[in-house]
Amino acid sequence: MRIGLLTGGGDCPGLNAVIRAVVRRAEMEHGDTIVGFRDGWKGMAEGDIVDLSVDSTRGLVTRGGTVLGTARYHPDEHSDATAMVFESFKRNRLDAVICVGGDGTLAAAGKLSDVGLPMIGVPKTIDNDVFGTDVSVGFDTAVAIAADALDRVQTTGESHNRIMVVEVMGRHNGWIALSAGIAAGAEAILIPEVPFDVDELAKQLVHRHRRARSSVVVVAEGASPVAGSLAWSPPRGKFGSIVAGAVGELVRAELEQRTGFDARLTVLGHVQRGGTPTPTDRILGSRFGVAAVDAVRDGEAGVMVALQSEQVVRVPIAEISGRRKQVPPDLVDVARSLTV
Ligand code: F6P
Repeated sequence: MRIGLLTGGGDCPGLNAVIRAVVRRAEMEHGDTIVGFRDGWKGMAEGDIVDLSVDSTRGLVTRGGTVLGTARYHPDEHSDATAMVFESFKRNRLDAVICVGGDGTLAAAGKLSDVGLPMIGVPKTIDNDVFGTDVSVGFDTAVAIAADALDRVQTTGESHNRIMVVEVMGRHNGWIALSAGIAAGAEAILIPEVPFDVDELAKQLVHRHRRARSSVVVVAEGASPVAGSLAWSPPRGKFGSIVAGAVGELVRAELEQRTGFDARLTVLGHVQRGGTPTPTDRILGSRFGVAAVDAVRDGEAGVMVALQSEQVVRVPIAEISGRRKQVPPDLVDVARSLTV
């Protein structure tokens, strides 16, 4: 068989583990050929091919990023791109395409599957909001990096008697903020799902600083104040993305002014998406890569491999498209009861 492979959307640690596993499973178990496309759907549409073999992917399991490159590019947003993707599929004599992506890339895969291209999805995003899987590739590493950063700002904050505000990624949800915040014992965790009351938080921090010398406040980049409490309209960048540091600076400035304590902001940004994947992400990426090839070999199309209750399963992409996995209420409750 000839199987296409691409990575789309924002990158994350663990993508190379998926790529290596796909290549090894396909080539070594079945004698199949993997045709890699550079920069996601764009490379497939334009026929930009990367040579992938067991030899060229050796040692990749430990490396961050994606050797295929990636892009925020959706075929249905570019005229002729869908037709070009079809053409590329035929020209490369492919039997199926494995696409590793977040909600946008997987939604595009679902649409292409509906019109006759056999697609297998693999969920990845540090945001962990792909519906239908307990966890996505990249999330574990992002949480580990964020938790480590929180541990570090805590000790310098304590030396200086400061409020340390740390902004983490998460446009639509608080998966990273809650997980890293709970792991590091942060004093406050502000997430998009629960608007924050900066007045109330300032009072709680003033009270806390009677007996403590520092407070760590984690802010997800998509968090926002309670309606009407602060003048706030989040600035937007390209593709509707969040402007890094905007809400973090709002929280820092408002807390400093209300509490009278020195407050400092750290914006973790893309540090959370870079570097070496954790062993958990390497293992998850490897399991998903193998499972994606097996799905192709079983003649599946329009499904995403997913982790559910420790088992790798197949979920119809139609069931997960356009939906976002929410943070569970019990995690929000744990954070609420363990903070300020
Ligand atoms: O990959 C998801 C994500 O990390 C979001 O949390 C973040 O808002 C966004 O990507 C940043 O994307 P970009 O790298 O395109 O600026």
